[in-house]
Amino acid sequence: PRCEMIKTEKVGEKSNVGLITFNRPRQFNALCLQLIKEVADTLEHFDNDETVGATVITGNEKHFSAGADIKEMAGKEFAASYKKDFLVDWDRIRTVKKPIIAAVNGYAFGGGNELSMICDIVYAGEKAVFSQPEINIGTIPGAGGTQGWSRFGSKSWAMEVCLTGNRFTAQEAQMAGIVSRIFPPKELVSEAIKLGEKISSKSPILIQMIKEAVKVAYETNMQQGLQYERRLFHSTFATNDQKEGMTAFAQKRKPNWTGN
Ligand code: HXC
Repeated sequence: PRCEMIKTEKVGEKSNVGLITFNRPRQFNALCLQLIKEVADTLEHFDNDETVGATVITGNEKHFSAGADIKEMAGKEFAASYKKDFLVDWDRIRTVKKPIIAAVNGYAFGGGNELSMICDIVYAGEKAVFSQPEINIGTIPGAGGTQGWSRFGSKSWAMEVCLTGNRFTAQEAQMAGIVSRIFPPKELVSEAIKLGEKISSKSPILIQMIKEAVKVAYETNMQQGLQYERRLFHSTFATNDQKEGMTAFAQKRKPNWTGN
């Protein structure tokens, strides 16, 4: 898709990782509607591109994103927001099938923080700053802030973050559970791409099943989640890649994944 608010490329030694870089530096990568639409369009495009196995989303070294575009939002009214389901494009990002990795350097505020939590894996630079400052501008998180901090972190974290608008360091976000690893800022994006390359080297159909199964853990209870996982596990025996993977193991060679 043609994009103005983001840069999109295929990166990695085998060009098998999608890279989305927010490109509104003067607005601190504020997430206007067009930018989010471009992100959703691009992720759907990569979902349909068989050469891509995972996508990295990043901003620049100072700002991942300062959140929803406040100037665009300021004049909004309830009726139109409700009827047009303002922020509905965010759901398109939630239904992407291939893994998405957020590489967060600098500010991840409001919607920026929420977008990172929609991603499947979050890597942060040492100087990343996380915050849900909506309370300070007369609104509340609207793209998952109250839910993400609760489900991936804890009630105490969710309450403190969302009630105060306080800023949190990469280390605190890692302690809270929303960041898996922290890197020096300059190495962050290449580490995220390396992770994307590793995921892209696996069987695409099995990767898709794993993402689907892990997401179920956040939607349902343990018993239903275990059942869901077991059923998906059973269905792996209908794939060529299961035959290939286990045969290759027995033959002491590397598997050749086809994604079928
Ligand atoms: C629109 C923004 C913006 C935003 C920054 N800018 N954040 N524009 N929406 N969220 C613009 C500023 O207007 C300014 O443009 C330029 O970027 C630089 O910002 P400054 O404030 O001058 O810089 P600084 O003093 O360094 O402060 C940086 C900051 C501050 C701490 C990030 O800008 C800030 O607090 N921004 C708002 C953060 C926020 O409240 N985010 C939550 C949004 S609500 P000009 O043209 O004036 O130079 C939200 C709801 C989620 O995300 C709902 C789901 C999406």
